Formats: sequence, C-alpha cells, structure tokens
Amino acid sequence: MADEWVIEVDGLTKRFGNVTAVEDLSFSIRRGEVFGLLGPNGAGKTTTIQLMLGLTTPTAGTIRVFGLDLQRHRRAILRRVNLAATYVSLPTNLTVWENLNVFARLYGIRKPRAKIEELMELLDLAHLAWRVTGTLSSGQITRLNLCKALLNDPEVLFLDEPTASLDPEVAARVRDILRQIQQTRGITMVFTSHNMREVELMCDRVLFLARGRAVAQGTPAEIQIRARARSLEDAFIVIARDGRLHDVAEVTEAD
Ligand SMILES: Nc1ncnc2c1ncn2[C@@H]1O[C@H](COP(=O)(O)OP(=O)(O)OP(=O)(O)O)[C@@H](O)[C@H]1O
Ligand SMILES: [Mg+2]
Repeated sequence: MADEWVIEVDGLTKRFGNVTAVEDLSFSIRRGEVFGLLGPNGAGKTTTIQLMLGLTTPTAGTIRVFGLDLQRHRRAILRRVNLAATYVSLPTNLTVWENLNVFARLYGIRKPRAKIEELMELLDLAHLAWRVTGTLSSGQITRLNLCKALLNDPEVLFLDEPTASLDPEVAARVRDILRQIQQTRGITMVFTSHNMREVELMCDRVLFLARGRAVAQGTPAEIQIRARARSLEDAFIVIARDGRLHDVAEVTEAD
C-alpha cells in the first residue's frame, strides 16, 4: 500500500468574483504522508484545504479522496477526514468536556465517553475537562481543536497552521503529539505553516503556492536545492518575492 493515493487533485481552480484564489492546481498525496502546503499570505493554502473538504465548490477541476469523487461522495468522505484550525472556533461558553461531547455525538461516535477520555489523555487535557472553553490559553485551545479533530479517527487530518500563535515550547509539544499520532495511527496529514524549520521537521513533501499557482513540489531538501538556497526559509523568500523558482534550465536559457 506504499503508493496508495488518498487525495488526487486535478486542474483545480477557484475564483471569488475577480479574485483567482487557486489556479489550475494538480497534485496527489499518498497514504500516511505528511504533506505541506506552503506559500505567502494569500497564496491559496486555506482555500485549497477548504476545497479538499468540500466546504467550497471548485470553479473548475476535480478532487478525488480515497479514490472517490468529492462532489459525488462528499458525505462518505467527510466521515473519514477532519480539520484542525484556529478559525474553527468552538462555543466558548461550553466546558471542554461538553464541546467534545457535542462533536462526538454529531460524528456518531459509538462509545463517545471512552473516545473522549482516550484523546484527552493523549493531548493532556484531562485536567481541563470542566474548564469553560473561553478561558483556555492558545496552547490549550490548539490541543482541544486537535482533540475534536481526532474524535472520528480520521484517515486524513487537515491542519491549517496548527502551531500559529504558540510559544516555541508549546509548538514543539504540539509537533511531538502530531508526530506521535501520525506514527502510531498512520494518519495522512495535510499541513500548513509559515515556520520553515517546522516544515522541515514535519513534512515528507511540500507544495509551494504563489498567487494560487503551484510553483514547486518535492521534499523540503529538493526544493532547497532547486532554489539554490541555503535553507528552506531562503527558498520561501525567493518564491514569495518573485512568485516562482528560477530553475537551472531557465537560467541556462537566459544565459
Ligand atoms: N470567501 C472569499 N471571498 C473572496 N476572496 C477570498 C475568499 N477566500 C479567500 N479569498 C482570497 O483568495 C486568496 C487566497 O486566500 P487564502 O486564504 O486561501 O490564502 P492563504 O494561503 O491561506 O493565506 P494565509 O497564509 O494568509 O493564511 C486571497 O487573495 C484571499 O483574499
Ligand atoms: Mg490561510
């Protein structure tokens, strides 16, 4: 099953009025892979994630998840995936337990109490069970969002900037948890971050977007070499500045 594609995106385009958020994107993600979507602010990363979750409809192109067409099999697919992002805010006046219980029931989890307890243990949330969600710190909210996103045992977990606004130590702890989950549960992760060191630590492959278009795809090391940059961060800056990577062939032609 080494090369089983769980996500296949072909010719994906999304326009909002006269803004083209995503333009003619094609890529595939393997089962068990940690796949990074990178690019400057406004590059189209969140839009791409929302398209892959069927939260917004493509202007053109197709998305297959688990070999199924997303538009035709949306409900069946959504049972097998989940999203953790800070912009998905949980009701602030409910306790941590109440929030998780609501979602466990929405998802139709068979043994909700056991599942919530297992995940609270994993994410070090047990001592916060009766806290009102609105009083949690950013790091605690991040762990709660992750907990919610794992309730349905997703095969694919979308993580939109899971460590944004966390201090370095808490961010490292979240990465440890994600790696542990990925290794023990074999979950495929689609990950966005503006922290290139984190991307190098977490991602097997990345897709760089700029102005909605794919600019480069490969392992973090391959992209760094292609950009002839000293680091992935330097490669990012080249892409953000020029909207593309000058590869060796283009430079030779220009010469
Ligand atoms: N609902 C919408 N209506 C109009 N324009 C939108 C909408 N959603 C996104 N856009 C535009 O599409 C483009 C891509 O936005 P998107 O949120 O996907 O970028 P991003 O790569 O996630 O950026 P960031 O790093 O800042 O999170 C931006 O120009 C944005 O303003
Ligand atoms: Mg975004």
